[in-house]
Amino acid sequence: MPLLVSHIAAVTGAGSGIGRAIAAGYAREGARVVLLDINEKAAAEAAQEVRSAGGAADSFALDVTDRAACVALAKTIADTVGPVSILVNNAGINRRNAFTSDPDAVIKDWEDIMAINLTGTFNVTHAFIESLRATRGRIVNIGSIQSFVHVRTPNSAAYTASKHGVLGFTKALAAELGKHGVRVNAIGPGFIETPLNAQVRANNPDLVKIFLDHTPLGRAGKPEDIVGPAIFLASDLSAFVTGSIVMADGGYRTV
Ligand code: NAI
Repeated sequence: MPLLVSHIAAVTGAGSGIGRAIAAGYAREGARVVLLDINEKAAAEAAQEVRSAGGAADSFALDVTDRAACVALAKTIADTVGPVSILVNNAGINRRNAFTSDPDAVIKDWEDIMAINLTGTFNVTHAFIESLRATRGRIVNIGSIQSFVHVRTPNSAAYTASKHGVLGFTKALAAELGKHGVRVNAIGPGFIETPLNAQVRANNPDLVKIFLDHTPLGRAGKPEDIVGPAIFLASDLSAFVTGSIVMADGGYRTV
């Protein structure tokens, strides 16, 4: 029996990597998926892929940093697709500039990363909150091993701060929305091979080695590795789980 029948699931950053895999996975479990991405073409292609596999999918362009656009799109989706009962805040970026390098670059990194990874998560959640309340919905935020650690992940103060923020936001909202029956959890992926880290993989094998040396399962993750935890947290399998983070990191955080 599919686990997400009769749900409408909105996924941000669904045109690529982890978000794209989660949207496809939710569709396989019977959800109608709404793929959102700043890259409209990528979201449309991903939605087409879901439909070709027999699933139900719509796609829309959305820049999660644009609060007014988030509000307007939430209304459009409520009117044309229906009430969103699952929201995955997945859109995110990373850049690695040393804090002591070119100040303009460091400031731009901070502003962009916080705007997308943390304020974007706020913007989209706030925009969809009425649908989520009405459906006693589920929110799944994508954190990171950098929701906790920093020592082996250099030159990414902004990213680390944003992902700590995502975890803090997850816990605070879980505490506040529990009385409305809305569950809020996070996933902490380890090193997952996606376009996000293609440059690091191509140019910085030493950093990749540091990750893998600290990954007991001994391999990098694939987007598909995040799909199971995402289905768990969106489905009734996790009916008594809120305010948690499921680490899907090959054991990275244990060593
Ligand atoms: P990706 O680069 O493959 O996909 C990110 C998607 O977000 C892209 O389709 C991009 O167009 C979209 N996006 C970027 N800015 C946006 C905006 N302003 N509004 C809407 N969409 C926007 O990256 P990946 O790896 O799939 O990352 C997804 C999430 O997983 C991110 O939050 C990332 O921080 C997190 N993560 C990734 C890890 C990895 O090793 N790949 C590890 C831990 C967390």
